[in-house]
Amino acid sequence: MNTKHPNWLYNEMKTVGVDYLCTDEAQRYDEMHQRFRDYEEISRSIIDSLGIGPESTVIDIGAGTGAFAIAAAKYYKYVYAVDISEAMIDQCRQKANAAGLDNVICQVGGFLTYEHDSDPVDAIISLIVLHHLPDFWKLEALKRIAGMLKSGGQFLLFDIVLPSETSDLGTQIDDWIKTIGKLAGPELAAEAEIHIRDEYSTYDWIMEGLLVRAGFTIDSAEYNEFNATYICIKG
Ligand SMILES: C[S@@+](CC[C@H](N)C(=O)[O-])C[C@H]1O[C@@H](n2cnc3c(N)ncnc32)[C@H](O)[C@@H]1O
Repeated sequence: MNTKHPNWLYNEMKTVGVDYLCTDEAQRYDEMHQRFRDYEEISRSIIDSLGIGPESTVIDIGAGTGAFAIAAAKYYKYVYAVDISEAMIDQCRQKANAAGLDNVICQVGGFLTYEHDSDPVDAIISLIVLHHLPDFWKLEALKRIAGMLKSGGQFLLFDIVLPSETSDLGTQIDDWIKTIGKLAGPELAAEAEIHIRDEYSTYDWIMEGLLVRAGFTIDSAEYNEFNATYICIKG
Protein backbone atom coordinates (compact mmCIF):
# COMPACT_ATOMS: atom_id res chain seq x y z
CA MET A 1 0.00 0.00 0.00
CA ASN A 2 1.15 3.53 -0.78
CA THR A 3 3.09 4.91 2.20
CA LYS A 4 1.27 8.25 2.14
CA HIS A 5 -1.81 6.46 3.53
CA PRO A 6 -2.27 6.30 7.31
CA ASN A 7 -1.59 3.02 9.11
CA TRP A 8 -5.24 2.72 10.11
CA LEU A 9 -6.50 2.69 6.51
CA TYR A 10 -8.27 -0.57 5.61
CA ASN A 11 -5.94 -2.70 3.51
CA GLU A 12 -8.08 -3.26 0.43
CA MET A 13 -5.24 -5.11 -1.31
CA LYS A 14 -5.71 -7.96 1.14
CA THR A 15 -8.76 -9.63 -0.34
CA VAL A 16 -11.45 -11.31 1.70
CA GLY A 17 -13.32 -14.37 0.41
CA VAL A 18 -12.46 -15.35 -3.16
CA ASP A 19 -8.80 -14.56 -3.88
CA TYR A 20 -8.85 -12.46 -7.05
CA LEU A 21 -5.15 -11.67 -6.63
CA CYS A 22 -4.40 -15.26 -7.65
CA THR A 23 -3.40 -15.71 -11.31
CA ASP A 24 -5.25 -19.05 -11.61
CA GLU A 25 -8.48 -17.45 -10.33
CA ALA A 26 -8.10 -14.61 -12.84
CA GLN A 27 -7.50 -17.05 -15.68
CA ARG A 28 -10.60 -19.14 -14.96
CA TYR A 29 -12.84 -16.15 -14.07
CA ASP A 30 -14.27 -15.52 -17.54
CA GLU A 31 -14.86 -19.19 -18.26
CA MET A 32 -16.88 -19.52 -15.01
CA HIS A 33 -18.76 -16.23 -15.24
CA GLN A 34 -19.69 -16.56 -18.88
CA ARG A 35 -21.65 -19.71 -18.01
CA PHE A 36 -24.33 -17.42 -16.54
CA ARG A 37 -23.50 -13.89 -17.78
CA ASP A 38 -23.56 -12.49 -21.30
CA TYR A 39 -20.96 -9.69 -20.89
CA GLU A 40 -21.93 -7.95 -24.14
CA GLU A 41 -25.67 -7.94 -23.46
CA ILE A 42 -25.33 -6.80 -19.82
CA SER A 43 -22.88 -4.06 -20.81
CA ARG A 44 -25.24 -2.88 -23.58
CA SER A 45 -28.06 -2.59 -21.09
CA ILE A 46 -25.84 -0.55 -18.70
CA ILE A 47 -24.72 1.70 -21.57
CA ASP A 48 -28.37 2.25 -22.56
CA SER A 49 -29.29 3.07 -18.93
CA LEU A 50 -26.50 5.63 -18.62
CA GLY A 51 -27.46 7.27 -21.94
CA ILE A 52 -24.20 9.23 -22.24
CA GLY A 53 -22.46 9.99 -25.53
CA PRO A 54 -19.26 8.91 -27.30
CA GLU A 55 -17.26 11.86 -25.91
CA SER A 56 -17.78 10.56 -22.37
CA THR A 57 -15.17 9.17 -20.03
CA VAL A 58 -16.09 6.44 -17.55
CA ILE A 59 -14.36 4.59 -14.75
CA ASP A 60 -15.09 0.90 -14.13
CA ILE A 61 -13.97 0.34 -10.56
CA GLY A 62 -13.24 -3.27 -9.71
CA ALA A 63 -13.16 -3.90 -13.46
CA GLY A 64 -11.79 -7.41 -13.06
CA THR A 65 -11.10 -9.04 -16.42
CA GLY A 66 -12.98 -6.23 -18.20
CA ALA A 67 -16.50 -7.70 -18.40
CA PHE A 68 -17.87 -4.17 -18.81
CA ALA A 69 -14.78 -2.14 -19.73
CA ILE A 70 -14.01 -4.03 -22.95
CA ALA A 71 -17.59 -3.85 -24.28
CA ALA A 72 -17.95 -0.20 -23.19
CA ALA A 73 -14.79 0.97 -24.97
CA LYS A 74 -16.64 0.97 -28.31
CA TYR A 75 -19.13 3.52 -26.97
CA TYR A 76 -16.98 5.96 -24.96
CA LYS A 77 -13.90 8.09 -25.46
CA TYR A 78 -12.00 6.59 -22.55
CA VAL A 79 -12.71 3.77 -20.12
CA TYR A 80 -10.52 3.58 -17.02
CA ALA A 81 -10.46 -0.05 -15.86
CA VAL A 82 -9.32 -0.05 -12.22
CA ASP A 83 -8.84 -3.07 -9.99
CA ILE A 84 -6.75 -4.01 -6.95
CA SER A 85 -5.74 -7.26 -8.65
CA GLU A 86 -2.83 -7.10 -11.06
CA ALA A 87 -3.81 -10.63 -12.23
CA MET A 88 -7.40 -9.61 -13.08
CA ILE A 89 -6.44 -6.31 -14.71
CA ASP A 90 -3.79 -8.11 -16.73
CA GLN A 91 -6.54 -10.25 -18.31
CA CYS A 92 -8.43 -7.04 -19.10
CA ARG A 93 -5.30 -5.48 -20.65
CA GLN A 94 -4.71 -8.58 -22.80
CA LYS A 95 -8.31 -8.48 -24.06
CA ALA A 96 -8.05 -4.76 -24.86
CA ASN A 97 -4.80 -5.35 -26.78
CA ALA A 98 -6.25 -8.32 -28.67
CA ALA A 99 -9.26 -6.20 -29.69
CA GLY A 100 -7.02 -3.29 -30.75
CA LEU A 101 -8.65 -0.97 -28.19
CA ASP A 102 -6.36 1.92 -27.28
CA ASN A 103 -8.89 3.76 -25.10
CA VAL A 104 -9.03 1.28 -22.21
CA ILE A 105 -6.70 2.57 -19.50
CA CYS A 106 -5.88 -0.29 -17.15
CA GLN A 107 -4.76 0.70 -13.67
CA VAL A 108 -4.07 -1.17 -10.45
CA GLY A 109 -5.91 0.54 -7.59
CA GLY A 110 -8.98 0.29 -5.44
CA PHE A 111 -11.92 2.17 -3.99
CA LEU A 112 -9.81 3.51 -1.11
CA THR A 113 -6.51 4.09 -2.88
CA TYR A 114 -7.07 4.83 -6.59
CA GLU A 115 -6.16 8.43 -7.42
CA HIS A 116 -7.86 9.67 -10.57
CA ASP A 117 -5.35 12.24 -11.83
CA SER A 118 -7.41 13.32 -14.87
CA ASP A 119 -10.58 15.44 -15.06
CA PRO A 120 -13.73 14.32 -13.23
CA VAL A 121 -15.61 11.75 -15.31
CA ASP A 122 -19.14 11.45 -16.69
CA ALA A 123 -19.95 8.10 -15.10
CA ILE A 124 -18.55 5.46 -12.79
CA ILE A 125 -19.75 1.90 -12.75
CA SER A 126 -18.97 -0.88 -10.32
CA LEU A 127 -20.21 -4.43 -10.76
CA ILE A 128 -20.06 -7.01 -7.93
CA VAL A 129 -17.23 -5.28 -6.04
CA LEU A 130 -18.37 -3.03 -3.18
CA HIS A 131 -19.21 -6.04 -0.97
CA HIS A 132 -15.44 -6.55 -0.56
CA LEU A 133 -15.41 -3.65 1.91
CA PRO A 134 -16.98 -3.60 5.39
CA ASP A 135 -19.80 -1.05 5.70
CA PHE A 136 -17.68 1.56 7.49
CA TRP A 137 -15.31 1.58 4.50
CA LYS A 138 -18.09 1.40 1.92
CA LEU A 139 -19.07 4.95 2.86
CA GLU A 140 -15.50 6.15 2.45
CA ALA A 141 -15.35 4.41 -0.94
CA LEU A 142 -18.64 5.97 -2.09
CA LYS A 143 -17.48 9.46 -1.06
CA ARG A 144 -14.29 8.95 -3.06
CA ILE A 145 -16.38 7.84 -6.06
CA ALA A 146 -18.50 10.99 -5.80
CA GLY A 147 -15.25 12.97 -5.73
CA MET A 148 -14.16 11.53 -9.11
CA LEU A 149 -17.45 12.42 -10.84
CA LYS A 150 -18.52 15.62 -12.55
CA SER A 151 -21.41 17.41 -10.95
CA GLY A 152 -24.53 15.61 -12.22
CA GLY A 153 -22.40 12.58 -13.14
CA GLN A 154 -23.83 9.10 -12.76
CA PHE A 155 -22.80 6.17 -10.61
CA LEU A 156 -24.19 2.76 -11.52
CA LEU A 157 -23.70 0.24 -8.74
CA PHE A 158 -24.55 -3.44 -9.10
CA ASP A 159 -23.92 -5.76 -6.19
CA ILE A 160 -25.27 -8.55 -4.05
CA VAL A 161 -27.46 -6.85 -1.44
CA LEU A 162 -29.63 -8.65 1.10
CA PRO A 163 -33.31 -7.97 1.72
CA SER A 164 -34.00 -6.67 5.24
CA GLU A 165 -37.74 -7.37 5.15
CA THR A 166 -37.99 -11.11 4.89
CA SER A 167 -39.11 -13.74 7.34
CA ASP A 168 -36.62 -16.43 6.29
CA LEU A 169 -33.36 -15.09 4.95
CA GLY A 170 -31.60 -18.43 5.62
CA THR A 171 -33.89 -20.29 3.20
CA GLN A 172 -33.48 -17.53 0.61
CA ILE A 173 -29.70 -17.83 0.91
CA ASP A 174 -29.87 -21.62 0.48
CA ASP A 175 -32.09 -21.19 -2.61
CA TRP A 176 -29.75 -18.53 -4.07
CA ILE A 177 -26.73 -20.83 -3.68
CA LYS A 178 -28.66 -23.74 -5.27
CA THR A 179 -29.71 -21.57 -8.22
CA ILE A 180 -26.11 -20.46 -8.80
CA GLY A 181 -25.03 -24.11 -8.68
CA LYS A 182 -27.61 -25.05 -11.34
CA LEU A 183 -26.72 -22.10 -13.59
CA ALA A 184 -22.95 -22.06 -13.25
CA GLY A 185 -21.80 -25.26 -11.56
CA PRO A 186 -20.45 -26.31 -8.16
CA GLU A 187 -17.38 -24.01 -8.13
CA LEU A 188 -19.55 -20.91 -8.39
CA ALA A 189 -21.96 -22.33 -5.79
CA ALA A 190 -18.96 -22.74 -3.44
CA GLU A 191 -17.99 -19.11 -4.18
CA ALA A 192 -21.54 -18.03 -3.32
CA GLU A 193 -21.17 -19.71 0.08
CA ILE A 194 -17.86 -17.91 0.58
CA HIS A 195 -19.55 -14.68 -0.44
CA ILE A 196 -22.21 -14.93 2.27
CA ARG A 197 -19.88 -16.28 4.95
CA ASP A 198 -16.72 -14.20 4.50
CA GLU A 199 -17.46 -11.14 2.38
CA TYR A 200 -19.41 -7.98 3.31
CA SER A 201 -22.68 -7.84 1.38
CA THR A 202 -25.04 -5.65 3.36
CA TYR A 203 -28.77 -4.92 3.66
CA ASP A 204 -30.81 -2.87 1.18
CA TRP A 205 -31.60 -0.07 3.66
CA ILE A 206 -27.95 0.27 4.66
CA MET A 207 -26.80 0.47 1.04
CA GLU A 208 -29.40 3.11 0.20
CA GLY A 209 -28.43 5.11 3.31
CA LEU A 210 -24.74 4.92 2.43
CA LEU A 211 -25.36 6.17 -1.12
CA VAL A 212 -27.36 9.15 0.12
CA ARG A 213 -24.83 10.02 2.82
CA ALA A 214 -22.04 9.92 0.23
CA GLY A 215 -23.81 12.73 -1.64
CA PHE A 216 -25.81 10.80 -4.24
CA THR A 217 -29.44 11.07 -5.24
CA ILE A 218 -30.74 7.57 -5.96
CA ASP A 219 -32.49 7.81 -9.31
CA SER A 220 -33.49 4.15 -9.35
CA ALA A 221 -33.01 1.14 -7.09
CA GLU A 222 -33.96 -2.24 -8.53
CA TYR A 223 -33.90 -5.46 -6.54
CA ASN A 224 -34.11 -8.90 -8.13
CA GLU A 225 -33.58 -11.61 -5.50
CA PHE A 226 -30.12 -10.64 -4.12
CA ASN A 227 -29.11 -8.61 -7.18
CA ALA A 228 -29.36 -4.87 -6.64
CA THR A 229 -28.80 -2.15 -9.24
CA TYR A 230 -28.66 1.51 -8.25
CA ILE A 231 -28.41 4.40 -10.66
CA CYS A 232 -27.29 7.44 -8.70
CA ILE A 233 -26.64 11.05 -9.57
CA LYS A 234 -23.97 13.12 -7.87
CA GLY A 235 -25.62 15.94 -5.97
C1 LIG B 1 -16.53 -10.53 -8.61
S1 LIG B 1 -15.19 -9.67 -9.35
C2 LIG B 1 -16.07 -8.52 -10.41
C3 LIG B 1 -15.23 -8.09 -11.59
C4 LIG B 1 -15.98 -7.31 -12.65
N1 LIG B 1 -16.51 -6.07 -12.13
C5 LIG B 1 -17.08 -8.12 -13.29
O1 LIG B 1 -18.21 -7.65 -13.39
O2 LIG B 1 -16.80 -9.24 -13.73
C6 LIG B 1 -14.65 -8.61 -8.04
C7 LIG B 1 -13.46 -7.76 -8.40
O3 LIG B 1 -13.32 -6.73 -7.41
C8 LIG B 1 -11.94 -6.51 -7.21
N2 LIG B 1 -11.80 -5.81 -5.92
C9 LIG B 1 -11.89 -6.32 -4.66
N3 LIG B 1 -11.75 -5.35 -3.75
C10 LIG B 1 -11.59 -4.19 -4.45
C11 LIG B 1 -11.39 -2.83 -4.07
N4 LIG B 1 -11.33 -2.47 -2.77
N5 LIG B 1 -11.27 -1.89 -5.03
C12 LIG B 1 -11.34 -2.25 -6.35
N6 LIG B 1 -11.49 -3.52 -6.76
C13 LIG B 1 -11.63 -4.48 -5.82
C14 LIG B 1 -11.34 -7.91 -7.29
O4 LIG B 1 -9.95 -7.89 -7.51
C15 LIG B 1 -12.14 -8.50 -8.44
O5 LIG B 1 -11.51 -8.28 -9.67
